Amino acid sequence: MGIQISPSMLASDFANLAFEAQRVSNADWLHVDVMDNHFVPNLTLGVPVVEALAKATDTPLDCHLMIEDPDRWAPAYVEAGASSVTFHVEAATAPVRLARELRAMGAKAGMGLRPATPIEPYEDLLPELDMLLVMTVEPGFGGQAFLDLCVPKIRRTRQLIDKHGLEMWLQVDGGVSLETIERCAEAGAEVFVAGSAVFRADDPNGMIEKLRASAEAASCL
Ligand code: DX5
Ligand code: ZN
Repeated sequence: MGIQISPSMLASDFANLAFEAQRVSNADWLHVDVMDNHFVPNLTLGVPVVEALAKATDTPLDCHLMIEDPDRWAPAYVEAGASSVTFHVEAATAPVRLARELRAMGAKAGMGLRPATPIEPYEDLLPELDMLLVMTVEPGFGGQAFLDLCVPKIRRTRQLIDKHGLEMWLQVDGGVSLETIERCAEAGAEVFVAGSAVFRADDPNGMIEKLRASAEAASCL
């Protein structure tokens, strides 16, 4: 399936989202961070902004919901035009039902884990998902330092995916940069979210290609 780069729009200029999306036209996805000030101590954007962004770009949207009660709210992001919707397992009441609902609507279903949430209790859920997100910072803010303590979980998640012969994607998000992407790729990640690293670069599309090349060189896949 190959390495994929998903720049986080959280690090872009919210007053110019359509323009910012064009600046990262080499991206495989646009990562859109939805925060509700309950699941995380920050508030960003919601369904109307996702709907507007989906109309303004051809790049598929990868919506990362850092919100309470995703069982209730996540389907609206598919209706708004997201191609992939990731909910957090810590917030979901019925993750299997929710993943099936998202897939039935035609989206990819992703499930995210905070740094302190282990993957092992969710091994049996993996076939219900298109993507598993291992957070490499505490969710809530861009520009935080990469947490190396999450790397063993990336590796263990990759082993579980391979053990079951699944075609699902393993995504990492938080502090991903040229300094940290290789250790994620070496551990088995293949979808890389990068906010500050991409949008603070002079040439965001060039940085996407540098990140892609580093990940491809280090990938264990
Ligand atoms: C953090 C968000 C991330 C964030 C990443 O809670 O989920 O997607 O934007 O930003 P960087 O790459 O700057 O750590
Ligand atoms: Zn995110």
